[in-house]
Amino acid sequence: MADLTPTSMSMNTMDDARAVQIIRSKRDGLELSADDYRFLTTHIADRQLTDAQLGAWLMAAYCQPLSMHESAVLTRAMAASGWQCDWRGFDLPGPVLDKHSTGGLGDIISFLLAPMVAACGGFVPMISGRSLEHTGGTIDKLESIPGYNPFPSPERFQQVVADHGLAIVGQTAQMVPADQRLYAIRGQTATVDSLPLIAASILSKKVTEDLDGLVIDLKVGSGAFMQNQAEGQPLMDMLDGVASACELNCRIMFTDMHQPLANCVGDSVEVREAVRYLTGERRTGRLHQTALALSAELLLLGGIADNADSAREKLQAALDSGKAAECFQTMVAALGGPADFVDMPDHHLQQAAVIRPVEASHSGSVNSIDGRSLGHAVHHTAAVQDSRSFDHRVGIAELCELQQRFDSGQPLAVVHARNEIEYQYLAGVIKQAIKIT
Ligand code: URA
Repeated sequence: MADLTPTSMSMNTMDDARAVQIIRSKRDGLELSADDYRFLTTHIADRQLTDAQLGAWLMAAYCQPLSMHESAVLTRAMAASGWQCDWRGFDLPGPVLDKHSTGGLGDIISFLLAPMVAACGGFVPMISGRSLEHTGGTIDKLESIPGYNPFPSPERFQQVVADHGLAIVGQTAQMVPADQRLYAIRGQTATVDSLPLIAASILSKKVTEDLDGLVIDLKVGSGAFMQNQAEGQPLMDMLDGVASACELNCRIMFTDMHQPLANCVGDSVEVREAVRYLTGERRTGRLHQTALALSAELLLLGGIADNADSAREKLQAALDSGKAAECFQTMVAALGGPADFVDMPDHHLQQAAVIRPVEASHSGSVNSIDGRSLGHAVHHTAAVQDSRSFDHRVGIAELCELQQRFDSGQPLAVVHARNEIEYQYLAGVIKQAIKIT
């Protein structure tokens, strides 16, 4: 018979009764202690807390929201659940900076800002996430680049940043492992849009990066989690409070998400648009203004520029000289992608079988775009088997803009689908989502 005396148990065997007690306390609206959060994040990371227990705790935390203090304690415990960056040994000649978005549609800013800031002398160790609900995931988009490995070892991650100025990667079993698991299970349990959980998820990754400066892009509008600034303000307050409790030098900016930022939705089409922007083939106004505003704020935070005009000049010069595009290319190659990706994106990105426009059924101008339904439609169409991986070829490109005028029969967008059925479905969603009056 097995020996079940306490001394025969492994030291890190989880105390099941304590896990249940922590779930019960949160369910009943009690504040958990720092020790409880350490217990939780340790056993989320070592996977001794089961998916069922984690789902139950998340729903309890959704219905009985964490206080700002608890969110800060959770943030620190999540960051400490894995390996943390330490730049002291690298003797970097510039500040360590990053930006994180609360989630939006057609949001390719990370692919523009990271190389632009690196080209100006900053170092950007960007830990990002997969798609959450209707919003796109930076990591899913990067996986459309053949060979790109968004999950390097922590040592390799730091080395790529030190050598090339930037690396965009995802959470792993070694880096912010508690967020990696919480993030996935929040998506499966309808617990994404909880402000303290969003703050802890975002800021645990940023604490892990050991930053000199952080900008948070708080998106509001039909394609974001928060519909307007009034709804976004409590999230801004929560992020602000938790960031200062975690001693992050952080600025938070509202940006508009009433329409997809890059006029496209989907992994490959968004990466393709990012390359167009970096190489100067196309820089649409809203996208350019947002990329410049967020990047300039980082240059100011990092002391690379001393006023907004000079920050913008440096960033524009980094784009015009091709240095920003070169930084993106170097990062792609350093993380396993093609050495000529920026020169030949169409050669490397897989194309959908059906690429066809959707036409306006009547004349008028675009009054509103329901970004959430476009995001959900692309997400569901692209989902493969278990809904946790995506066919990167699926998407919507060349999407019209608010106030744009149309004659009947003109294209509103171009659908990228794997077959005719998917095309018809996405075309129908686009016609519903775009209100022409
Ligand atoms: N980005 C994150 O990293 N986490 C969230 O919860 C939302 C956006």
